[in-house]
Parts: sequence; C-alpha cells; structure tokens
Amino acid sequence: MSLRVAEAVAGQLRAKPDSCLGLPTGRTPLGCYQVLAQWSRLGSLDWRSATCFALDEYINVADEMSFAHYLETNIFRYTNLPADRQFTPLAVDDYESLIRRAGGLDLILVGIGHNGHIAFNEPGTPKLSWTHCTWLTESTRQANAALFGSEDRVPTMAVTMGVQTILTARRVLLIASGQQKHGILQRALADGVNSDVPASFLQEHPHLEVFTDFDFDRNSR
Ligand code: PGA
Repeated sequence: MSLRVAEAVAGQLRAKPDSCLGLPTGRTPLGCYQVLAQWSRLGSLDWRSATCFALDEYINVADEMSFAHYLETNIFRYTNLPADRQFTPLAVDDYESLIRRAGGLDLILVGIGHNGHIAFNEPGTPKLSWTHCTWLTESTRQANAALFGSEDRVPTMAVTMGVQTILTARRVLLIASGQQKHGILQRALADGVNSDVPASFLQEHPHLEVFTDFDFDRNSR
C-alpha cells in the first residue's frame, strides 16, 4: 500500500513539478514517507518547485510532538523542498488564501480516524467548513495517547483544514491501514453521506482514490 501511495505522489510530482500537496501525519502515511524519502535521497524525486501544506496542527504542543516536526523528520529533511514552501495552518491567518495563491491543492493525502474524522474534522463537522480551530474528541485523544505517554497529555485543541478545503483538492488519496479501520471505511464510503462520519463527504469528490492494506470492496458488506 505504501509503495502504491508513494508511486501516486511521485507520479504527481513528476507530471507537475510545481504541484501543491496536502500532507497528513499519523501512523498510516509513515511507510509512504519512507519510500518517498528513499527516492528523494537517491535523487529520483525533485521537490524544488513543489509546495506542501500540512493538513492540521495541534495547538499548545511541545515542538517535538508537533506535526510540523513530524513532517520535517519523516519526509521534508530528505527532500529538496524549499523551507519557504512548507506550510502549517498554525501561524497563518488565512490558510485558504495561501493555498489558493499557490494554485490550489493538486493532490491531498488523507488518513481516516477510527471515529471517521479526516484531518481533525471530527464527527459533526459540517461539509461547509474551511480551516478552523477545533476541540479534539475523546476518541481522537485516546487514539493518540500512546504517542504522548497518556491521554491527558494529548492536546485538547487543534487547527485543521476544513472538509471543504479538502474537497477543493483536485485529487484526494484516502489511505487506511489495518483491519481495524475496515468498519469505519465501510461506513464512510458505502453508507450515505453524513457529518457523523466526516470522511463520508469524500464520496462526493470526483477524483477519490482509496488505498488500503486489507481487502476492501465498498460495494460489499
Ligand atoms: P493514524 O491516524 O494514521 O495514526 O491511524 C489517522 C487519523 O487519525 O487521521
């Protein structure tokens, strides 16, 4: 799965070297970033003209636990992506304008949370949402407790691209790893569109590509 996702991202960068990419954090994209890092180190992938936007960022978090740090250590440091074209929504007044001025997102990579969130668009987030601050749900904080040592150390707030920000991307790559994501992916893609499962809004995107490392057929139950 990681190789196929990496091939899709690399293909995008080769076809359009000045691509704007939306990049997630979390466990799911780590393998893909490893492959991309390897290709970049070998010089077969050129990020010089690309622009990258983090999907989200915690508010009030130690630097080393931030998503900016995650992206730097897992992918950016291995590439020739210029530092002034790496963006995070944290210190930006108007992320939407920034993305628009960069030409709009050509490709966005998104994971899915156990509760159906995409980026930090938690259940209940409306479709018409742009970059915003949000409280994290208990289930999201539980899911990330191990990374922080305990749930009470997980930040309570974050800033995230909205559902609409994600839907404006020209291509959306949804990635899910581990059988335990099967049920929520099924709800997101096979049931109706519903803000209880924000990932279900992706059904409305004309260029959604789904990558899993388990058998998944959205038409079967
Ligand atoms: P994960 O997170 O990749 O660590 O499972 C996915 C998400 O919460 O969006």
